[in-house]
Amino acid sequence: MTGNELKEIFIEKGINPKFLKKQLVQKKVCMQKDIGVHNNLFGGNLLSWIDEAAAAFISETIGFRPVVTLKINEVLFKAPVKLHDIINIDCKILHMGTSSIKVLVEVVNTRTNNVVCTTDIVFVHIDPETMKSKEI
Ligand SMILES: CC(C)(COP(=O)(O)OP(=O)(O)OC[C@H]1O[C@@H](n2cnc3c(N)ncnc32)[C@H](O)[C@@H]1OP(=O)(O)O)[C@@H](O)C(=O)NCCC(=O)NCCS
Repeated sequence: MTGNELKEIFIEKGINPKFLKKQLVQKKVCMQKDIGVHNNLFGGNLLSWIDEAAAAFISETIGFRPVVTLKINEVLFKAPVKLHDIINIDCKILHMGTSSIKVLVEVVNTRTNNVVCTTDIVFVHIDPETMKSKEI
């Protein structure tokens, strides 16, 4: 979906255009408790942080309405994170459907400037009563 197409949908739905841009959503420090094997950040922890950050970003974007994670696409762990490294979790909306939103997530190690991980995640806006998908 092009930037212009997204912009039109944002205007139609009254969404703040600031959410069209890539945003730094969260910073994390890799603590001792986050380390897995080989003295690297445990990938499962990173997945949890990514899911939480992207969900928060999407929820804010659509006015704090409830969303659930439907699908996490391929996750590439490209570079390790070591003890006390700091990472940035950046999010950008790629596509907005009727009830679903796809967001690109990029994680960067601020010490090395390496891209640690990229993925895209699909969230679905739901009706909290029925737990079914609902138009955004
Ligand atoms: C999210 C959920 C309500 C969607 O239910 P559903 O019956 O698939 O809903 P729909 O068929 O109405 O589809 C909803 C949207 O998801 C999209 N979708 C469905 N399957 C998809 C897939 N494989 N990939 C991408 N998008 C998909 C549909 O295209 C639709 O998007 P649109 O409204 O923008 O066109 C349901 O799957 C659910 O409750 N999942 C569990 C969520 C959860 O607990 N997540 C936490 C992690 S376990």
